[in-house]
Amino acid sequence: MALLLWLGSQLSSYLSNVSILAVFLTVFTLVLDFMKRRRKWSRYPPGPTSLPFIGTMLSVDFQNPHLSFNKLQKKFGNVFNLQNCWTNMVVLNGYKAVKEALVHRSEDFADRPYMPVYEQLGYGSKFPGIVMARYGHVWKELRRFTLSTLRNFGMGKKSLEERVKEEAGFLCSEISSEEGRPFDLRFLVNNAVCNVICTTIYGKRFDYGDETFKKLLHLFEEFLKEETGFLTQLLNVVPTLLHIPGLLQKVFRGQKEFMDFTDMFVHKHMETWNPAYTRDFTDEFLKEMKKGKAAEESGFNYNNLRLVTTDLFGAGTETTSTTLRWAVLYMILHPEIQSKVQAEIDKVIGRERSPTMEDQVSMPYTNAVIHEVQRCGDVVPIGVPHRTYRDTELQGFFIPKGTTIITNLSSVLKDETVWEKPNEFYPEHFLDTNGKFVKPEAFLPFSAGRRVCLGEQLARMELFIFFTTLLQKFTFVLPEDQPRPREDGHFAFISSPHPYLVRAIPR
Ligand code: HEM
Ligand SMILES: *[C@@H]1O[C@H](CO)[C@@H](O)[C@H](O)[C@H]1NC(C)=O
Repeated sequence: MALLLWLGSQLSSYLSNVSILAVFLTVFTLVLDFMKRRRKWSRYPPGPTSLPFIGTMLSVDFQNPHLSFNKLQKKFGNVFNLQNCWTNMVVLNGYKAVKEALVHRSEDFADRPYMPVYEQLGYGSKFPGIVMARYGHVWKELRRFTLSTLRNFGMGKKSLEERVKEEAGFLCSEISSEEGRPFDLRFLVNNAVCNVICTTIYGKRFDYGDETFKKLLHLFEEFLKEETGFLTQLLNVVPTLLHIPGLLQKVFRGQKEFMDFTDMFVHKHMETWNPAYTRDFTDEFLKEMKKGKAAEESGFNYNNLRLVTTDLFGAGTETTSTTLRWAVLYMILHPEIQSKVQAEIDKVIGRERSPTMEDQVSMPYTNAVIHEVQRCGDVVPIGVPHRTYRDTELQGFFIPKGTTIITNLSSVLKDETVWEKPNEFYPEHFLDTNGKFVKPEAFLPFSAGRRVCLGEQLARMELFIFFTTLLQKFTFVLPEDQPRPREDGHFAFISSPHPYLVRAIPR
C-alpha cells in the first residue's frame, strides 16, 4: 500500500510537471525532424534498419558490442551508420578510413559528442575538462597548458624520468618480496603507474597495499563499467530520463565517489598553496587561476581544475598499467621472446645500471616488443568518440556536422591489409630485415590528429622504463599448476587481460 501511495505521488508529480511534458513534446518533434533530414542525405553511409525513436539500438548487444559490430562491418563495410535513438553515429573501420578522418580531415573530426550524463559530475560547456571537451577555445587552452606543464615537470625531460625510474625500483622490490610465489601483478603494477601520475599531479605517492589506494582503484573500475553500460548509453541519448529521481545516484555511484576523491586532493592543495613554491601540476593550475578574469574565461577555474586532474588520472593510469599487464602476459606466453629481450638488456644495459630513455635507440628488439604489445593488447579498442565539427566527406560518403564518430582503433591495429600477422604476437612487425626498428603508419594505439593522446610521451616513457627494469631483474613464468592464460581481452571501454597468476624468478 505504501508503495502504491508512493507511486501515485510520484506519478502525479510527474504529470503536473509541465517541463517534463514540454521535453517529451520536444523529443517528439526531434524524431520527426530527424526522419525528415535522413531522406536528404543521399551519400550517407549505409547501416541497419532504423526504427522510430530507438533507432538501431536493437542491432547492438551492449554486453558484447564487439560481436555485433563485427557482424555490421561484414554486412555494411568499413564505414557504416548507427542511430542511438536520434543521435547519428558513424563507425569507421580500417586504417584507410580512420587515418583519413583523424589525420587528413583532422579539424572536421575534432569535436566530441555532447554527453549530458557528465553534467551530473560537474562537466559543462564552461567546465569541459580535456578528454570530453568540445573542440574550441577552452579545450585548446587547457590542452596547451597541460602539455607544457607536464613537460616542465619532466615529460620528455629528466625529472619525470627519474620519478619513473624510482617507481620502477619500488615495484621491483615489492615483486621480490613475493619470493617467486604465484601472484597477480595487477595491484602492484596499477599502484606503480598510478604513483607516477599522482606524484606529477598531486605530489603524492601511495605505498604499496595502501587501503585508500585500493578503494580508489575499485572506484575507478566501477567508473569504467558505468561508462560503457547500456543505461549510460541510453541516458546520453535520452537525457529526459535523467529526471527520474534516484536513477542517477544508482547508475553513477562509482563516478560520483571517484570525483569526491579528486575533490579531496584539490582541497588539500588549496589549503596549503604557496605561490613561491610550485609542487606539482595542481599548484601550477592554481597559479594560472590567480591570473584573473581572462584566465578564468580560458578555462582556468576551480571546476576545471578538478575535471582536468580527474581526466589525467582517468586517462593516464588504467591505460598504461593494462598495457604493462599485457606485456608480462605475452612474455609468459612467449618465453623465447622474453629471452631475446633479456639478452638485449644484458648487452646494452647490463644487470646493475637502471635503464634510461637513452637506451631505447640501441634496443630495437625490446622497442619492437613493446610496440607489438601495444598493437596486440589494443587497450583502447574503439578509441574515444569524436564528433564532426562541420559537414564533411569521408571515403566518398557525406557525413553531416554533429555526427558522433566511433574510430575503431582495433581494426587499424589488426588491419589485414597492413600487418603481416594481424592476430599473432609478432615483434617482427616493427623490425626491418636488418633488425632495425621501424614503425608502420597504422600503429595508432594513441589515435592521431588534433585529439591524439595527450600523454603519449609519458606513456611511452613508462612502458619502456617499467618493462626493461622488470625484465632486467626477473624472468616471468607461468606457475606449473595454472592453466595457460587466455589471450583475448576483456572489454569494458579498456580491453584488459583476463586475470592471471605469474611467478617472478629473480635473475
Ligand atoms: C598506453 C597508454 C595510453 C594509451 C594507449 C592512450 C590512448 C589514448 C587514446 C586512444 C585517446 C583518444 C584520442 C582520440 O580522441 O582520438 C587518448 C586521449 C587522451 N589521453 Fe591517452 N593513452 C595512454 C596514456 C595516457 C597518459 C599517461 C595520459 C596522461 C598523462 C593520457 C592522457 C590523455 C588525454 C588527456 C586524452 C584526451 C585528449 C583530447 O581529447 O584532447 N593518456 N589516449
Ligand atoms: C572493430 O574492429 C574489430 C576488428 O576488425 C572488430 O572485431 C570490432 O567488431 C570492431 N568494432 C566496431 C565498433 O566496429
